[in-house]
Amino acid sequence: MSVDDTDVETRIADAWDRISSAYQDRYEISPEHFHYGPMCPDESELGLIGDVTGLRVLDLGCGGGQNTIWLAERGAEQALGLDPSASQIGFARKLAESRKARAQFAIGDSRACRDMPGQFDLAVSIYALMYAADLRAALTDIHLALAQGGRLVLALDHPWRIAGAWKGGQLIVGDYFAEGWDSWDYDFPEQEVSCRLHRVKRPLDAILTDFLAAGFRLDGMLEPRPPARDDMFARRSKHGENSPLNVYSRDKLERVPSTLILWGSKA
Ligand SMILES: C[S@@+](CC[C@H](N)C(=O)[O-])C[C@H]1O[C@@H](n2cnc3c(N)ncnc32)[C@H](O)[C@@H]1O
Repeated sequence: MSVDDTDVETRIADAWDRISSAYQDRYEISPEHFHYGPMCPDESELGLIGDVTGLRVLDLGCGGGQNTIWLAERGAEQALGLDPSASQIGFARKLAESRKARAQFAIGDSRACRDMPGQFDLAVSIYALMYAADLRAALTDIHLALAQGGRLVLALDHPWRIAGAWKGGQLIVGDYFAEGWDSWDYDFPEQEVSCRLHRVKRPLDAILTDFLAAGFRLDGMLEPRPPARDDMFARRSKHGENSPLNVYSRDKLERVPSTLILWGSKA
């Protein structure tokens, strides 16, 4: 399917509005941990963020706000979650309220950063910017919102994993270098909800080029192996935990990385 760039970001936000409640119900993501993605070790194991006491932190594409709340509860002076989906932000606000967490939330995407130049010490964006039509523009917006020396931690679908399709336990990659929109149906049969989602596929060198072109110094990169215990993404597949169709099963992600994590700073 070809995707018209002009309104695709609106359609992606609408899609997240539609599935937000079912997504949050299925995965029950906990604000007790800072997570980096499906079947990925969390901050207690990776230690990429470190002490956030007194920091002003932006969480771009915050979804249900669990990571934003974690940052607020760990002493961030400001923890702002931004997301283009009103339903995701509504969920995040309720969750923060129920925990009396001092996290703030607003509906928006990276363009909102342009009104907040130099205002953050740390930006995180976890599994969100593969939905941005222009990754370099989004990273440039984040760079603008950071103070000098500010850091970014970015997690994305691993480009190798989303370049392929699983067949009989093997990942078949047709064309790793093909760049463009990848569309699929994300469905939640347990609540009879589904949507059409679109993300951009890019090879690793294109992602790194955008990261550097946005002005960041690259401080590190990780392709995490699965954590010791299966998470909710592996356990709550709509196909069943042990189904060969479960794309987040341990046997697959021990061979093909689930997530790409890059971190860097504003020199
Ligand atoms: C898989 S969820 C991840 C949410 C959260 N970061 C987490 O790790 O739980 C993806 C989120 O990205 C948001 N999103 C979609 N398009 C975006 C964009 N262009 N910029 C930032 N976030 C976007 C969606 O609304 C959705 O809430």
